[in-house]
Amino acid sequence: MTTPTLSFRATTKTYHHGIVEVPAVRDVDLDLMPGSVTAIMGPSGSGKSTLLHLAAGMVIATAGHVLVNGDDVGRRSPADLARLRRTDVGVVFQQYNLLPTLTALENVTLPLELDGMSLRQARGIAEAALERVGIDPPLDRYPDDLSGGQQQRVAIARAVAVPRRLVLADEPTGALDTQTGDRIMELFSSLAEEGAAVLVVTHEPRVAGYADRVVTLRDGRVVSDTASRPSRPADGRPNTNAGGANLTTTSTSDGSVSPNHSDPSVDDRAWAPADSASTSAHGDIDPTDSSAVAR
Ligand SMILES: Nc1ncnc2c1ncn2[C@@H]1O[C@H](COP(=O)(O)OP(=O)(O)O)[C@@H](O)[C@H]1O
Ligand SMILES: [Mg+2]
Repeated sequence: MTTPTLSFRATTKTYHHGIVEVPAVRDVDLDLMPGSVTAIMGPSGSGKSTLLHLAAGMVIATAGHVLVNGDDVGRRSPADLARLRRTDVGVVFQQYNLLPTLTALENVTLPLELDGMSLRQARGIAEAALERVGIDPPLDRYPDDLSGGQQQRVAIARAVAVPRRLVLADEPTGALDTQTGDRIMELFSSLAEEGAAVLVVTHEPRVAGYADRVVTLRDGRVVSDTASRPSRPADGRPNTNAGGANLTTTSTSDGSVSPNHSDPSVDDRAWAPADSASTSAHGDIDPTDSSAVAR
């Protein structure tokens, strides 16, 4: 049996504000398989970013487990987690987290160099990644001199410059126009076709339309989990059943799951969360800072 690339097992994360407890993620069970794109939707404050930070090992679960390629990230040292993020896991943060004193090109080359690549090789790979997301030269501009959309794409280039088994992206099209957003989602789809598991937090139905599966959170819990079509096989064969039957399981508030078949005439892209208000900016952490683990 294929090992899931990412698993949440009864995962709970509770933040503490003094004596006040804020349950951000509650008892989540999910498996993301290689070769799949999963969209996480839900209102602001429903725990989407926390779930992503748990998967990146930047936030450690209060209860339950998070497994990446079968390894419990909660048992890894901070240095080990930083290495994991530079090799196996690509993360696109909601606030981009570009280093302001580095140019666009240097922001993409730095993690590659930290991982032992020569400057020359890192430059070549970074230039190709920036081109892939549509960033044109000059590449020596600093983040402050780039538009929000350009900064977002530099962050995406940094996350996917080298092949990743797991790609985690928090609202990766939030600053992009429709056409550029589509281009980015096509890029994520192609990474899945190459075998990656891709998790995209979004409140845009159009973006979720690129996903094989849409998971909706509410108050930190999974309230629906809809497979709109079968996951792409890891061998990269194109999906031949797009728009096929929708198989939905709906979790009720007591945590039980009831399978039901949704109306196949309803397109994913027409699906909208009840509340798509802007998301909170909590929990964004410098990706190159190995000490940035919230416990
Ligand atoms: N670093 C943090 N410290 C304290 N509370 C947090 C932190 N990050 C998120 N929260 C709280 O956890 C809940 C879920 O937040 P978040 O995961 O950012 O949701 P979303 O991304 O869906 O908007 C919210 O109530 C938020 O205020
Ligand atoms: Mg968020």
